Amino acid sequence: MIRACIFDLDGVIVDTAKYHFIAWRRLANELGFDFTEEKNEQLKGVSRMDSLDLILEWGGVEKSQEEKEALAEKKNSWYREYILDMDDSEILEGVMPFLNNLEERGIRKAIGSSSKNATTIIEQIGLKARFEAIIDGNKLTRSKPDPQVFQLGADVMALQPKECIVFEDAERGVDAALAGDFYAVGIGGDNLSHAHAVVPDFVGRTFEDILAQLPEAANQ
Ligand code: BG6
Ligand code: MG
Repeated sequence: MIRACIFDLDGVIVDTAKYHFIAWRRLANELGFDFTEEKNEQLKGVSRMDSLDLILEWGGVEKSQEEKEALAEKKNSWYREYILDMDDSEILEGVMPFLNNLEERGIRKAIGSSSKNATTIIEQIGLKARFEAIIDGNKLTRSKPDPQVFQLGADVMALQPKECIVFEDAERGVDAALAGDFYAVGIGGDNLSHAHAVVPDFVGRTFEDILAQLPEAANQ
């Protein structure tokens, strides 16, 4: 029986992927190369340092560990300029009614994000009090597709994976949920077909609608 929903943040609750892309691209451009929005898809759900490694590989650029830390810090300072301007108008359409619907049903809620900025963002958009657990990148030793982020969320709520639905917009995020034995629902994207169910967004959707798309066992 499902008792909780664990939400990824970037791309599920808010569209911060665009800010990550702008900041990473600015860094790449400073280093003398560019990358496309299509390539950017591969960075979704991936930690800051792993993202930097991928980008440097695309540009054929090698840097020392010290230089990489300075580059990641630079990108993060640009990214934080964007997120510190965020407010509740950036919450994706359909999310608020869905959270309300879960609360009416007594379904518990947590955030499971790879981002070290996740708690700042949740505060900026005024949703902190709505989640009983916020697992962000600062609490993690392993990045998605490792299931650690969702396992920690389930642990805080003292629930088993099969009592939780994970909502994810990233291929690696769905991989992580499945690796941890959670039910996985993909949001948007056409690279999420391995999830138990995929919906374009939360608009007009209720908990019952989602349950109806999951395997029979989730409904018992
Ligand atoms: C994930 C994003 O949520 O967080 C990734 O999908 C990002 O694109 C990762 O790289 C880490 O974010 P941050 O804020 O710790 O640099
Ligand atoms: Mg995401």
